[in-house]
Parts: sequence; C-alpha cells; structure tokens
Amino acid sequence: MIKKILLIAASIIIIAVVGFFIYVQLTWDKTYDWPGPALKASTDSTVIARGKYLVDGPAHCGSCHISSFADLVDGDEGKIVALKGGLKFPMGPLGSMYTRNLTPDEATGIGAYSDEQLFRMMRHGIRPDGLASMPVLMPFWKMADDDLVAVVSYLRSLAPVENKIPNNDWSFMGKAVRSLTATFRPIKDPGAPAVAPAMAPTVERGAYLANYVANCVGCHTERDLMTYQATAPEFAGGMEFEPWPELYTYLKSDPEVWLRTPNITPDPGGVLVNYKTPEEFVARFRKGRLVAFSPMDWGPFSRMTDEDITAIWMYLNSLAPVKHDVGDLVFKK
Ligand code: HEC
Ligand code: HEC
Repeated sequence: MIKKILLIAASIIIIAVVGFFIYVQLTWDKTYDWPGPALKASTDSTVIARGKYLVDGPAHCGSCHISSFADLVDGDEGKIVALKGGLKFPMGPLGSMYTRNLTPDEATGIGAYSDEQLFRMMRHGIRPDGLASMPVLMPFWKMADDDLVAVVSYLRSLAPVENKIPNNDWSFMGKAVRSLTATFRPIKDPGAPAVAPAMAPTVERGAYLANYVANCVGCHTERDLMTYQATAPEFAGGMEFEPWPELYTYLKSDPEVWLRTPNITPDPGGVLVNYKTPEEFVARFRKGRLVAFSPMDWGPFSRMTDEDITAIWMYLNSLAPVKHDVGDLVFKK
C-alpha cells in the first residue's frame, strides 16, 4: 500500500516537473503583436538636434549601446562613440543580454525596422522582433511623444555601422524567469504625455527628467533585485549594485566592492543637502564620474544643460524629506 502511494506521489512530481519544463520551453519566447504608437520619425534638423541632446545627455543611450568598456570611458570623456552595440550584460544565473546596434545599418542595426517597431520598443518594451524585452532596463515608457520622435529621428540620422550582435542567451532558469515573472512583461498602457515640459528650470521639467528620462528614480530607490519593485520610498536611495566582473577587471578595481545609491531626497541624512544651490549641483554634474566603477551615467549627465540640471535640483528639493539610512555607499559583503 505504502509503495503504491509513494509511486503515485513520485509520478505526480515527475509529471509536474516535466509539465513545468514543457511550459517554460513553450512560453519563454512568446511574441507580442501589439501595435506601436502612431508616431513618425522626422528629418527636420531641429528635431534631430533635440534627439542628439537627449540621446547623448539625459537619456544616456550611450551608457549601454556601445561595444566595449573602452567606448564607455571614451564616451565619458566626450569623444564621439558609435552606438553600434554589443556590450554584454551578465545576468548571473539567468544568462546574458547584449545591447543592440542602434545605427541605421540595414542588416545589423535598426535600418530595416519601421518607425512603429522602434517606437513600440521605447514605449512598450517589445523588441522589434516581437519578443518581450526587460522593460526596467530601458524605462522610457513615459517619455513624451515629441521627445521619442526626436530620439528616433536622431538615430535614423546616424552613419550606419555594420556590427552584428549575438542573440541573448538564456539559461533554463533565465527562460523560466522570462515565462513566469513580471520583469519580462511588456508595458501595456504607460500613459505618456504628448509634449515634454519645456527645457527650463521648473519642478515640472525636473520631475519629467528624473522619473521618465534620466531614470534617477530607477537607481536611487531601494529595490528587490529580482522584481525591481521598490522596497523603500522613491529617491531615498539604498539600491545595491554587485561587482560587474568584466568591468572591474577592465578598470582594475577591487573585485569585491559593492555600491549603494545615496538618498537624494532633501533629508539631512542624504546627499542633496550637500548642494545648497543649483550652481553647486551643476558644478558637481560637470565633474562627471568620481567613483571609477559607479554605474551612474555621469558622462551623459555631465552634458545636460544648466536648465535641466537645475530643474532636477528643484524637483528633488520639492520632494518630502525621507529618513533612510542606507549605510556606506561603497562596501564589501
Ligand atoms: C541600461 C542599458 C540601456 C540603456 C540606457 C538603453 N538601452 Fe536600449 N537596449 C538595451 C539592451 C540590453 C537591449 C536589448 C534588449 C533585449 O534584447 O531584450 C536594448 C535594445 C534596444 C532597442 C531594440 C533594438 C533591436 O535591434 O532589437 C532599441 C531600439 C533601443 N534599445 C534603443 C535605446 C535608446 C534610444 C536608448 C536611449 C534613449 C536606449 N536604448 C538606452 C540596453 C539599454
Ligand atoms: C544607473 C544607476 C544610477 C542612475 C541612473 C543615477 N544614479 Fe545617482 N548615483 C548612483 C550611485 C551608485 C551613486 C554612488 C556612487 C557615485 O557617487 O557615483 C550615485 C550618486 C549620486 C549622487 C551623489 C554624488 C556626489 O558626489 O555627491 C547624486 C547627487 C546623484 N547620484 C544624483 C542622481 C541624479 C539627479 C540622477 C538622475 C539625473 C541619478 N543620480 C541617476 C547610481 C545612479
């Protein structure tokens, strides 16, 4: 009798495991045929110039869409670096992702994609080929229509560079996470505005940049590293960054140091109070990266205008101060 029960239990477990395996294999690469927003890229030079500002500055596309760490350092120093992609993002046990070639090369870049495919990627996190991307990596869903048009118009104006990017490679665990978690679900209805707040020192402009373009909120909020859900108030800091082995080797940094984001609400325990005036905040941003292995996009942000940096300072100072002791910013576990 007991033997029979054990046999039945074992069969149920085997069926469940096999079922799970089949389910993941069938669903991890589900594609989405949602329409993209009805926007059109433009060849107007003012629109393209606005796109260049966003891409090289607050929207920091060049932090990722480059081919090497040498490009990253060159870009930080203000050199022109082709957005030809290929940088490998290690995703731990899940596998790895590669950033893609954003130049208009027909075969290896975005040249063959329609405007709709590109705008859909930016707004909904669905790759041009229909696969769900990982939206938190590119949280530009609420970028205004006019800014998105500027960004894509600028990409279309770049010189094509041939650079074939490998496919992402997902382990079984990566495929399971893709199938089962919200991290890899497209964004249904982000509710983006049609027009971005004008570039001017206003709280409204600062809120737009800090939340939807420069992604200050993404990093300066403590998050669960599996789901990216906030586990403490926004902008109060505390998100942790584990060492990135390839980058640290390149920079010859201590392979064991972690980083934590500071609290950037106006609480006396945070770092914002170190910048009493917008001028001091602008001066800090002009200096760029001081912690060599910091993931913050200091290079691109150093290229923001005085108006935009001031707008962000005004917005951060308009937030309610949050007490949140995050501990040391550079630490070992
Ligand atoms: C934090 C890193 C990061 C930043 C910043 C970033 N991207 Fe990406 N981007 C990626 C990765 C990784 C992929 C590949 C995603 C995938 O395969 O699911 C990607 C894919 C894309 C794609 C799809 C291209 C294709 O051929 O499939 C487009 C378009 C794109 N990014 C545009 C942009 C633009 C425009 C910006 C700046 C406004 C930007 N990205 C900023 C990491 C980034
Ligand atoms: C990719 C993650 C990331 C993003 C995006 C990011 N930060 Fe940071 N930030 C960090 C980390 C990590 C540190 C601590 C290491 C350092 O100082 O570079 C930091 C430090 C800071 C500091 C303290 C620097 C000092 O020297 O006093 C300020 C202020 C700051 N960030 C503001 C911002 C603002 C404003 C934005 C948006 C425009 C932003 N950050 C976007 C990760 C990020």
